[in-house]
Amino acid sequence: MERQVLIISILCLSYVVGQVSYSVPEEMAKGSLVGNIAQDLGLDVKRLGSGKARLYTGDSAQYIELNRERGVLLIKEKIDREVLCRQTTPCALHFQITLESPLELFPVTVEITDVNDNAPVFQKEERVFEISESAIVGSKFMLEKAIDPDIGLNGLQRYTLKPSDNFVLKLHAQSDGSKKVEMILQKPLDREKQEHISLVLTAEDGGEPQMTGTMKIYVTVLDANDNAPVFSKPVYKASITENSVKGTLVTKVTASDADKGTNGEVTYVIGNSMDTVSKLFHINNEGDVILDGLIDYEIEKNYNIDIEAIGQGGLSDSSKLIIDVIDVNDNRPVVNMISASGSIPEDSARKTVIALMSVNDPDSENNGKVNCVINENIPFEIKFTSNNFYSLVTDSDLDRERASNYNITVICTDEGVPSLSSSVTLTLQISDVNDNAPVFERSSYEAYIVENNTPSLSIFTVKATDADWNQNARVSYILEDSSVNGVPVSSYVSVSADSGVIHAVRSFDYEQIKDFHFRVKAQDGGSPPLSSNVTVKIMIQDQNDNPPQVLYPVQTGGSLVAEMVPRSADVGYLVTKVVAVDVDSGQNAWLSYKLQKATDRALFEVGLQNGEIRTIRQVTDKDAVKQRLTVIVEDNGQPSRSATVVVNVAVADSFPEVLSEFTELTHDKEYNDNLTFYLVLALAVVSFLFITCLVVIISVKIYRWRQSRILYHSNLPVIPYYPPRYSDTLGTGTLPHVYNYEVCRTTDSRKSDCKFGRAGSQNVLIMDPSSTGTMQRIQSEKSILDEPDSPLERQEAHTG
Ligand SMILES: *[C@@H]1O[C@H](CO)[C@@H](O)[C@H](O)[C@H]1NC(C)=O
Ligand SMILES: *[C@@H]1O[C@H](CO)[C@@H](O)[C@H](O)[C@H]1NC(C)=O
Repeated sequence: MERQVLIISILCLSYVVGQVSYSVPEEMAKGSLVGNIAQDLGLDVKRLGSGKARLYTGDSAQYIELNRERGVLLIKEKIDREVLCRQTTPCALHFQITLESPLELFPVTVEITDVNDNAPVFQKEERVFEISESAIVGSKFMLEKAIDPDIGLNGLQRYTLKPSDNFVLKLHAQSDGSKKVEMILQKPLDREKQEHISLVLTAEDGGEPQMTGTMKIYVTVLDANDNAPVFSKPVYKASITENSVKGTLVTKVTASDADKGTNGEVTYVIGNSMDTVSKLFHINNEGDVILDGLIDYEIEKNYNIDIEAIGQGGLSDSSKLIIDVIDVNDNRPVVNMISASGSIPEDSARKTVIALMSVNDPDSENNGKVNCVINENIPFEIKFTSNNFYSLVTDSDLDRERASNYNITVICTDEGVPSLSSSVTLTLQISDVNDNAPVFERSSYEAYIVENNTPSLSIFTVKATDADWNQNARVSYILEDSSVNGVPVSSYVSVSADSGVIHAVRSFDYEQIKDFHFRVKAQDGGSPPLSSNVTVKIMIQDQNDNPPQVLYPVQTGGSLVAEMVPRSADVGYLVTKVVAVDVDSGQNAWLSYKLQKATDRALFEVGLQNGEIRTIRQVTDKDAVKQRLTVIVEDNGQPSRSATVVVNVAVADSFPEVLSEFTELTHDKEYNDNLTFYLVLALAVVSFLFITCLVVIISVKIYRWRQSRILYHSNLPVIPYYPPRYSDTLGTGTLPHVYNYEVCRTTDSRKSDCKFGRAGSQNVLIMDPSSTGTMQRIQSEKSILDEPDSPLERQEAHTG
């Protein structure tokens, strides 16, 4: 009302004078110039003084004052537009300047312009919300408005909300021109992610400088059971050694539920309800997986367990638990003989397979790695063939004679710690092969047999052994064919096939054969048989079975032979020499000569060794012409055998003397023919000379023979000789000895059965063409003795 009055008054005044308007911003300092009023009114400053100019504002407050001296309007009091006009625009001060004398009235209007001196302001500094995380997108939350008293651009212009992750602002224009401020959920809340959210709501004006006001908004997100439990891993792995005791903790699984409080409680179950797994393991509420039964690596190497975590709200998660079973070396290797030979021949080739076996160890890795060995120092070898199979083979040559059986122990050990092993023993027989020939105990045999033995006499035994077995070692003895003096050896000896005893088949005569040898073969019973042979030498020993034989003087039935001794002969005169031989040998042929009978024992003596007849005293005229000496020749055998010879000696100086004596002597003889006597006498003389030479030769030979001590190897002439007893008794050696012997005993030895075809018989031997050499030799020796014109005699005569 007052203002309207004022305005009307101004209008009235203005009729009087011109109107002056000024515009000043609010909040100008006291004393600030508003305008030069004097000038603007066209008044002199003095007029102002004189006119006592003053301001008239009615009863409204005085904000402006008039400086009369300077003629200007000044700010008297700080003007706050917002207090003065609130939201009214324009905001102006209306007053009059009054002058006295003359009274003058000048209306003045001072418009107060807005200055941005107010910031937007919220009533409360903060605001708290509690919003469930399950709040849906689009939910609205009312916020309070900010207030800015300034107007226009300086007034409230806009709001901002930061951060703007979950919420956005929405402004609704309201009927009063202000705006409703809403916060809208544009993205779901998640307590589990962010339980508390701080926001800042800022209100801004448009002034220059801009001013703002803020409010803090605190949002607490309330939990909803919106989370399933979650396992910490998609797959759990654990391991457990086999044979672990019940109640062993296998592993621990955890599932977390992001919800709060009871919403976050989790229980665990094993999903494999049908499997054996559920019987072997259980899981408690803490997530401990516990062993409930026995586990065996050899049955199951790992377990796949489905585990489930269930939250309070029924939400759940599942995971897998893989439990590996760790092997423990709890199984021994198992050795199975697939095939095995009980015996193999000793000549089996190297690397012959004798057994095949399989070895298994169900454990794993090193616990299941198996090595097999066999006992040492046997000629076998174990070979790994393939994939748990082993074969046992021979490694070197076998010899049944060295070892006839083997116990082969196969020991199989695994590589576990500690390792386990098992063994199996195989007994292998080595069967015999005929690989050894019989071997004689000696490399050669010598045996002695005394001549004149009984046929069938066992001489001695040869023996051979064979290292093989049974039939392969059964030795039989066989006499090998050969000939002795052109006669098969089987007619001399026989060999017993079983015992190796050597029998004489005939009676031996040392004077015929002194030794012979043959071979005996020992043969085993193998197939093919093996054999070896040995030389057997049989030496026949001499017996004194021959008496000495006198070669000279020759004993004739009727002829008369006499040695001449001249009467002038000295002591020691060699009258003649008795020559005798003995076909035996050694002592049996060592002859001694003795005078047995003599006409005059004092006149002659006989050399004991040499058979020389010598005079032992001077021959006298009284001695008879005709002397008769009987000399006995004895050998040195046991018992000794002897022969006697009669030696006629004529002691005379001339033939007639001898003749007359011997004519008497031969009176009663057939030879009374003188001529014959002379011829005989002449022959005797010639013979004497020859014999003397012969004796010298023989003496020399005998001497040499004694020197060399070789039995019966002299070149003495062999005298034709016919064994006195065994000339005809024996048969052949080809038949078994006993049989042969029997036959000859049961038949008359003189009968043709035995005589013919019995090559060993003495008579037949002489008739045998192969023996004719012997006969001829005997005969030629004889002719040397008999024939006067033999080369030997001629030679002797020459030298004599
Ligand atoms: C093998 O064993 C058997 C019985 O145990 C025994 O009689 C035999 O002598 C053994 N052989 C060897 C070569 O050790
Ligand atoms: C006898 O044995 C020898 C070797 O000791 C051999 O050389 C010979 O051939 C054998 N003789 C026979 C007839 O078997």
